[in-house]
Amino acid sequence: MTLWSDSRKSDFKYRRLLVVTSVLAITTLLLSITLLIIDRLRSRDPNSLWDHSSYDIKNDPWEYNLSRSNFSISKVPTKRYYEWTISQHVVAPDGFERPMLLVNGKFPGPMVEANTGDMIVVKVTNNMVNGTAIHWHGMFQNGTNWMDGTTGVTQCPIPPGQSFTYNFTVPNQWGTYWWHAHAASQYVDGIVGPLIIHSPDEPHLEKYDQDMVMMVSDHYHIDSASLAAWYLSTASEGVEPVPDNGLINGRNSFDCSMATEALFPTTPGSGNGKDRCFSNAPQAVFGVEPGLTYRIRIINTGSFADFKVSVDEHELTVIEADGVDMVPVKVERVPIHVAQRYSVLLVANRSTSNEGFWIRAEMNTNCFNVENPALDPSVKAILQYKAPSTPSFSINNTNNNRNTGMTTQEAPNSVDWNEGAWSPHCDDLKAEMLKPFFAKDAPEADTQVVLEMSFQTISRDRVNMGYVNKTSWRPQLDSPTLLQAIDGGGGGGGNSATMFDASQLVVTLDKIQTVELVVNNLDEGAHPFHLHGHVFYVVGSGDGSYIPGQSALHIENPPRRDTVTIPPYGYVVLRFVSDNPGLWAFHCHIDWHMAAGLLMQFLALPSQVKAFEIPQVVRELCRAS
Ligand code: C2O
Repeated sequence: MTLWSDSRKSDFKYRRLLVVTSVLAITTLLLSITLLIIDRLRSRDPNSLWDHSSYDIKNDPWEYNLSRSNFSISKVPTKRYYEWTISQHVVAPDGFERPMLLVNGKFPGPMVEANTGDMIVVKVTNNMVNGTAIHWHGMFQNGTNWMDGTTGVTQCPIPPGQSFTYNFTVPNQWGTYWWHAHAASQYVDGIVGPLIIHSPDEPHLEKYDQDMVMMVSDHYHIDSASLAAWYLSTASEGVEPVPDNGLINGRNSFDCSMATEALFPTTPGSGNGKDRCFSNAPQAVFGVEPGLTYRIRIINTGSFADFKVSVDEHELTVIEADGVDMVPVKVERVPIHVAQRYSVLLVANRSTSNEGFWIRAEMNTNCFNVENPALDPSVKAILQYKAPSTPSFSINNTNNNRNTGMTTQEAPNSVDWNEGAWSPHCDDLKAEMLKPFFAKDAPEADTQVVLEMSFQTISRDRVNMGYVNKTSWRPQLDSPTLLQAIDGGGGGGGNSATMFDASQLVVTLDKIQTVELVVNNLDEGAHPFHLHGHVFYVVGSGDGSYIPGQSALHIENPPRRDTVTIPPYGYVVLRFVSDNPGLWAFHCHIDWHMAAGLLMQFLALPSQVKAFEIPQVVRELCRAS
C-alpha cells in the first residue's frame, strides 16, 4: 500500500508539473505568435519601421579627412576590421526629411581605409526589411569573386535580421574607390561610402600635405523603390526621375518652398504627420591652411547626374582616375559621371586670412530629359581658409535650431571660372588629358566582343526597358550566376553560355586573353559603364557606331580606368585581360538603367571558377533567402 500511495503521490506531482509546463509552453507560444503577427502587420507598413525618433545622422565633416585619421601608410599587412549595421531612418541631409538607409546611422557611410596588401573584413548586419549586399567598387577580388557583393551575380541577398562578413585582401591596387549596396536601387537611399587604398609606392605621395574625400551625388526626396516603380512603368515613358537636389559629402541646403513644385511633389515629413523641412541646411565646409597642398578625392556616389566640379579661383591638377595614377594635368573643371573618381591637387595659395571660396559641383541638366523645377543644379560647398573651430557638429533634425556650428558661415563672394571651360556634353575628360603615370600600351586583341545597348518597349507590357544585345537583365536573386556556373544547371555543362536563363547575357572567356570590348550606344543618352573586377584600356570612343578598321584607335598609353562614359549615339572600344576568374558584371551605373536591365556578365576562366571553393556562409545566404 505504501508503495502504491507513494507512486500515486509522485504521479500527482508529475501531473502538476506537466500542467504547469504545458500552460507555460502554450502561453509562450501564443505570445510569440501574437508578436510575430504584430511584426508581420508592421512590416506590411514600411513606415512603421522607420525610426522617426530624434535622429542624429552623425555627419561629421572630419570623417572624410584622411589626414586626420592617424593612418600610417606602410607595407606591413594589417587586418582592417569593421562592423556595420544597416537600418532605416528618417533623416534630412539637405534639410528635407525623407526615409533613408544608413550604415551605422551615418550618411554618407563610414570610410574604409587600408594599405595595399591588407585584409579588409566587414561584418554587415542587415536591420532593414529587404535583403542587401555590399559591393566594393573597383576591387579586383582576384580569387575571391564571391566577395564582390553583387546580388544576382555573385551572391544571394543578406536576409533581413542576418549578418554576413565580407573578407578579402587587396594585393595589387591602390587609389580611390567606394562601396555601395548592389541590391535593387538601395544605394540611391544612402548605402554608400569611400574606400581608400594607400601604398608607399604611390607616385604622387610627396606632392601633397593633406588628403581628403569629396563625395558628390544627386539626391531625391522620395525613396528609390517608389522612383524605380514609376520609372519601370508605362507612366514614365522612359524618362528617368530627375533629382531634387545634389549633395557634397552628404550636405546641401534646399529651398523648402520648392517642394511642391518638384517633379514628384512631396510633403516633407509626411511619415509622422508633421511638415519638416529646414531651408537653411548647411553646406559642407572644407577647411584649408594657407600654403599647403591638398589631395581631394572626388567620388560621384550618385545615381543619375553627371557633374562638373570646380573650385573658384583655384586650379585643379588631376593625378588619379578610378585608382590609376595619371601624369599630372591642370584643369579648371573636372567632369565626373556616376561611379567615377578623380584625385585632384589643390594648392591653398589664395589667402592668408579667414576667407571662403565656392566649391561648385554643377549638374549637367542637358543630360536630363525633363526639368525638375525644384532642382538647383548648382551644388555648392565651401573651401574655407581657416579650419572650422569645432571639429564635431551634427545635423539634429528634431528642432528648428539645428545645431550645425555652420550658421555663421559667410557665403563666399568668389568668382566662378568662365563659361569657356564648360562643356555642354556629359562626357569624360578627353583621352589626351588622361595619361597613366605608369605607361602601358594597350595589348593586341585576341578576341572581340561587340555589344549593342538600347532602350526598347518590346516587352508585352510596353514598358521601356534597357537591352544589351537582345537581353534585358533581371537579377535571379535566389540563384546568382556564379553559383549556377559552379553547380551547373539548366542542362549546360558550366562552360557554355547556354546554361543561363534567357534574362542573363553571359559571355564566356575560356582562357587568359586580351578581350576587345566594343559597345555601341543606340540611345540618345550618355551612359557610364563599369566593369567589375578589372581596369580596362579605353582605346577608342566616338560618335556613331564603331567601324572596325576605320574608327581611330588609341593604342599608345591610353587611359585605364574602371568606369567609362559612352557618348550618346556613340561607341567605346575597351580592352581588358581576362585573367581574373569569376562572374563579372558590366553595366550602366546609372541606377535606373541597371534597374531597367542594362547589365551583362563575363564568365572568365570557367574551369577555374568550377574549382572555386565557395565558403559555406555564401551558399547559406541562398538557403536563407
Ligand atoms: Cu559600383 Cu556594379 O557597381
